[in-house]
Amino acid sequence: MPFSLFRRRSPASALEEALKEMRTAAFFAPTPWAVCRQMLELANVGPGDLLYDLGSGDGRIPIMAAQEFGASAVGIELDEKLRRHAEEKTREYGLNERVAFRSEDFFKTDLHKATVVTLYLLTQVNGYLGPRMASHLAKGARVVSLDYEVPGWRPEKTADVKSEGNVEYKLFLYRR
Ligand SMILES: C[S@@+](CC[C@H](N)C(=O)[O-])C[C@H]1O[C@@H](n2cnc3c(N)ncnc32)[C@H](O)[C@@H]1O
Repeated sequence: MPFSLFRRRSPASALEEALKEMRTAAFFAPTPWAVCRQMLELANVGPGDLLYDLGSGDGRIPIMAAQEFGASAVGIELDEKLRRHAEEKTREYGLNERVAFRSEDFFKTDLHKATVVTLYLLTQVNGYLGPRMASHLAKGARVVSLDYEVPGWRPEKTADVKSEGNVEYKLFLYRR
């Protein structure tokens, strides 16, 4: 046989395939309200912050960051329906000036302006986002992740928290 029937995939195409799988793997599971609040408290979110929620679902974290903590916030969400729902809520609460949602792939999001990033994604997804956050985020920016660590990063703090339904969660706070 002059050449092998089995071709090895290049590292680039293997990465692209893994990312494609992950885009559909991180399905919508909303963070309970009480846990959202504790994430924002742990990151000490305030009026000077620009928060990015990567995979913002129904928009609850950016909306709460603006409504209760006075921050500006951006939600990045691939699912158009969820993005539209989040935008409706933002309008309803009169937060348009400080909260925006974008239908975008978070692996391609420009994070240079973020002072806080929130994550409720799987460890593997956080692993792919880690280098992007490390290169885009300014020194002092905080990253709060719910339940799943950012591999290779050392948390400044961790916290065991409970939802309103008494379900236990773990928070990881990182600082650039
Ligand atoms: C576990 S949910 C978290 C929702 C919200 N952050 C919260 O805590 O309530 C993850 C979200 O990420 C979105 N998602 C998955 N892959 C994505 C991608 N590549 N870019 C943007 N959003 C994505 C999903 O549609 C889903 O809404």
